[in-house]
Amino acid sequence: MKSKIDCFLTAVQNRRSRYALEGKSPISDTEIVRMVEKAVRHAPSAFNSQSTRVLILLRNRHTEFWNLVLAALRQCVPAQQFQQTQDKIASFAAAYGTILFFEEWERVAALQQQFPTYQENCPLWAYQANAMAELVVWTVLEQAGLGASLQHYNPLIDESVKKAFSVPASWKLIAQMPFGTPTAPAADKTFIPISERVKVLA
Ligand SMILES: Cc1cc2nc3c(=O)[nH]c(=O)nc-3n(C[C@H](O)[C@H](O)[C@H](O)COP(=O)(O)O)c2cc1C
Repeated sequence: MKSKIDCFLTAVQNRRSRYALEGKSPISDTEIVRMVEKAVRHAPSAFNSQSTRVLILLRNRHTEFWNLVLAALRQCVPAQQFQQTQDKIASFAAAYGTILFFEEWERVAALQQQFPTYQENCPLWAYQANAMAELVVWTVLEQAGLGASLQHYNPLIDESVKKAFSVPASWKLIAQMPFGTPTAPAADKTFIPISERVKVLA
């Protein structure tokens, strides 16, 4: 039997960017929400500021989101490239749901005030905290049989997202994670030697 440590490392290894997704889920919405809540709750943040915010979009709200992204892209993508863009967005819209990751920027500003020495670091730490929550959510979705990818259509869509989903003005959109049941394996991935990346001094 695998040790707890190896189970965890295997889960980390199994998390992949999955783009071929369908609008089905092997688990209930209640279970999805429970997993995301637990992941967000326990992901660390600078000074335990808990600045990460998440919006889980399901069904017509998920579809509405990708329509909104497409509408924003229509304004800036050259006509001859738009079909490609449309196909890509359609692939995300075909998924089961989308998780939007935000940072509560008022919390970040409050931290800056509270710790003037770290003023410049606070926004960076907010992004780092958000990424930690993203990674936990991404990994647990994969464990549950749901593939996901990480997208960044912000800041292009920031204002329309706030309006469409009644998002507080102080929530800064950081990332978008479409998820669903994978219909194809993840693409091959290459690795540079780990010895170039991890050094040990003893
Ligand atoms: C900070 C960060 C930003 C990323 N942004 C995007 C993105 O905008 N669109 C996308 O398709 N993938 C994005 N990715 C996914 C990476 O391309 C992917 O994780 C990487 O190629 C390794 O593949 P894997 O996720 O299958 O392990 C991002 C990943 C990270 C960590």
